Amino acid sequence: MESYHIRGGNPICGEYTVKGAKNAALPILAASIATGEENVFSRCPCISDVLTMKEILESLGCRTEKTGDRLLVDTSCLNSEEVPAELMGKMRSSIFLVGPLLTRCGRAVISQPGGCAIGKRPIDIHIKALKQMGTSIKEVDGKLIFTGNQLEGATIALDFPSVGATENLMMAALGAKGETVIHNSAREPEIQDLQQYLNSCGAQIKGAGTSRIVIKGECPLHGTCHRIMGDRIEGGTFLLAAAGTGGELLLRGIETDMMKQFLKYLRYAGCKVKKQPGEIWLRGPGRLYCTGKLQTAPYPGFPTDLQPQFTAVMAAAIGKTIVEERIFENRFKYADQLIKMGADIEIFQRTAIIEGVEFLRGTQVAAEDLRGGAALVLAGLMAYGETTVENAEFIERGYCSFPEELKKLGGDISRNK
Ligand code: UD1
Repeated sequence: MESYHIRGGNPICGEYTVKGAKNAALPILAASIATGEENVFSRCPCISDVLTMKEILESLGCRTEKTGDRLLVDTSCLNSEEVPAELMGKMRSSIFLVGPLLTRCGRAVISQPGGCAIGKRPIDIHIKALKQMGTSIKEVDGKLIFTGNQLEGATIALDFPSVGATENLMMAALGAKGETVIHNSAREPEIQDLQQYLNSCGAQIKGAGTSRIVIKGECPLHGTCHRIMGDRIEGGTFLLAAAGTGGELLLRGIETDMMKQFLKYLRYAGCKVKKQPGEIWLRGPGRLYCTGKLQTAPYPGFPTDLQPQFTAVMAAAIGKTIVEERIFENRFKYADQLIKMGADIEIFQRTAIIEGVEFLRGTQVAAEDLRGGAALVLAGLMAYGETTVENAEFIERGYCSFPEELKKLGGDISRNK
C-alpha cells in the first residue's frame, strides 16, 4: 500500500508539460490489435492503467517494448481472444478489447470489467449496439463470449453518449461489412484522437468530435506511429493545484480549446487565465471565490473527471458552491475524507453543497478512486498542517510521478512506501 505525505501551504508555481492522455491511450492501444501489425506510440503516459493494458496485450500474444513514454506494440503475433479475468478486473477500459478482437478474430471473451467504484457502470449500451451489428453474446461461467465472424454495418442510436461504447463500436465497425453510423455518439476529444490514429492506419472514419460518426468497414489496415494527445484531465488537475494554493502555473502541451468550460469556472473562481496555442497560464487569487452552481456533463460540458478536484478547491473558497454530478451516480465518496479535513459538504444524491471554510486542516485520509484521490492531494496541498493520503495506488492509475511533479512545482509532498 502506497501513501503520500503532504505539508500544506506552499503555492504551486512554475511550468508543467502535460503527459499523454490516459483516456486516449487506452482505447488506442486496444485498437492496435485491429491492425495486425507493429505500431509505435509516443507520449504514452507511464501510469498503471497503461501498464495493465500493456499486460493485457501481452497476455493475448502481442509483443511490446516500452522505453520511457514510447511504447511499441506488435500485434502480428496475437494468439488469443480471451482477456484474463484478473487483468480484466483491474480496469473498466478492458471492455475496449471487444471491438478490436471482433474485427481481428470474430470472437472476444471477457469477464465483467472492473474499474473505479464510482457507480454501477454497466455495459448495456455496448452490448445493445454490438448486437445490432450481428454480434451474438453468451454468458458462460461468468465469462462474456462475443462472436461475430462477419458483422454487418448498421445505423445505431446510442441511448446515452457513452465514451467507451462510442469507441468500442468504432473499433468493431472496422471489420463490419458496409457502413456503420453512430448517432448520439460521445464527442470527447479523445474520440478524435482514436479516429486520427485509425485513419492513419488506413481506416475511413468521419465525424469524431460530433454526435454522428460514420465508419466505412473492411478497409485494409496497417501499423503506424502515433503521438497520443495531451491529457486535459491531468492538466486541469495541475491548474487546480495552482488555483487552490494561490500559485501561478504555465501549462504546456495542451490543446486549449478542449478546456473552455473548465477554464470558464476557474475565471469565475477569481483566477487570472490566459491562453495561447498549446499553453494556458493561470494565477490564483489568495483565496478562491465560489462559482455558484456547476453541473458535470458529456463533452463539451464540465468534465466529470475534474469534478472531485474542483470540489476540493471549492471547499476552502469564499461562499457556497453547488456541484451536480450528472454522469456517474456515486462520485462523491471522497467528500467524507474532505469533511475529515474540516470541509463543510452535504451530499444529496447526485448533488454536493459546499460551504467554503476558511481553511482545511491536514489529517490522515484515504483515496477510494482515481480522481477522488487526486482531490485529496489538492486538499492536502491547500491545508494547514500535515496530510497523509493513503491508497495512493488509485491515483497512480491516472497520474505519472504525481508527488514528484508537484514537488518540482514547490509542493511539499513525498511518497511513503
Ligand atoms: C470514460 C472515461 C472516464 C470518464 C467517462 C465519462 C476512459 C478510459 N474513461 O469512461 O474517465 O469518467 O468516460 O466522461 O475513457 N453507461 C451505461 N451503460 C453502458 C456504458 C455507460 O449505463 O453501457 C453509463 C455509465 O454507467 C456512466 C455513464 O454512462 O454513468 C458514462 O459512461 P461512459 O461515457 O461509458 O464512460 P466510460 O467510457 O466508462
